Amino acid sequence: VKRITIRTLQRMRDNEDAITMLTAYDFPTAQLLDRSGIDVLLVGDSLGMVVQGHETTLPVTMDQIIYHAEMVGRASKRALVVVDLPFPEGQLEINRSIEAGARVLQETQCSAIKLEGGAEQAGRIAAMVTAGIPVMAHVGLRPQNIHVEGGYRVQRDIEQLVADAKAAEAAGAFAVLIECVSTDAAEAITAAVKVPTIGIGAGGKVSGQVLVTHDILGMTSGYTPKFTRNFAEVGKAIEQAASDYIAEVKKGSFPSEKESFE
Ligand code: KIV
Ligand code: NA
Repeated sequence: VKRITIRTLQRMRDNEDAITMLTAYDFPTAQLLDRSGIDVLLVGDSLGMVVQGHETTLPVTMDQIIYHAEMVGRASKRALVVVDLPFPEGQLEINRSIEAGARVLQETQCSAIKLEGGAEQAGRIAAMVTAGIPVMAHVGLRPQNIHVEGGYRVQRDIEQLVADAKAAEAAGAFAVLIECVSTDAAEAITAAVKVPTIGIGAGGKVSGQVLVTHDILGMTSGYTPKFTRNFAEVGKAIEQAASDYIAEVKKGSFPSEKESFE
């Protein structure tokens, strides 16, 4: 299979062929998603919430991201695998971001990083790209900023959003992820840049879509955001399988002879 690269994504954007992206955090799931034909896998710091069970993405460390990225990178043969720069690797001095990005390229088989921020991150993006680290920018709602924002909210400053995306593009970002903005804002951003835009909670007028895999599989408990959709009930299937197993063991119908050694 031919590996999807940042050039493939640009071509897809130019041909108006929708780019698809999902999160992955472990080997078997990444393998399944890769075989499904997904274009981009994201080792997101959302793993702090959907895998580690924290309330925000902030507890995720660089070592943890590397641990997950190593598995996902090894599992995927076709998708471009992008890795989130966890808090505060993208907020401290620029050299630290280059070191973190270099770790991703050296210690995993993933080949790009994602960094929250736009205009204020332009210098950092440029330095990382110069160092050979492809960067996807992330504008709009920035979960690593939650304590300053005071919550997760739709981002409505269209002028600022467009300026962020343009600055990221000018700095060399290969794509711009847009989180939680109106359809109109995302359309304006997409019209303002030539690189692909990938939306989450950003409507349909973008170059591609990304969602959190656990959300689309029905594996997240409690609150799920308005912008996601359940494509399967894997959570329910897991609970059912476990309770069936328990019942069979209690009844004595598991294991059968077929499942036992002579
Ligand atoms: O961490 C993540 O999964 C993300 C997506 C929500 C885009 O950044
Ligand atoms: Na993230």
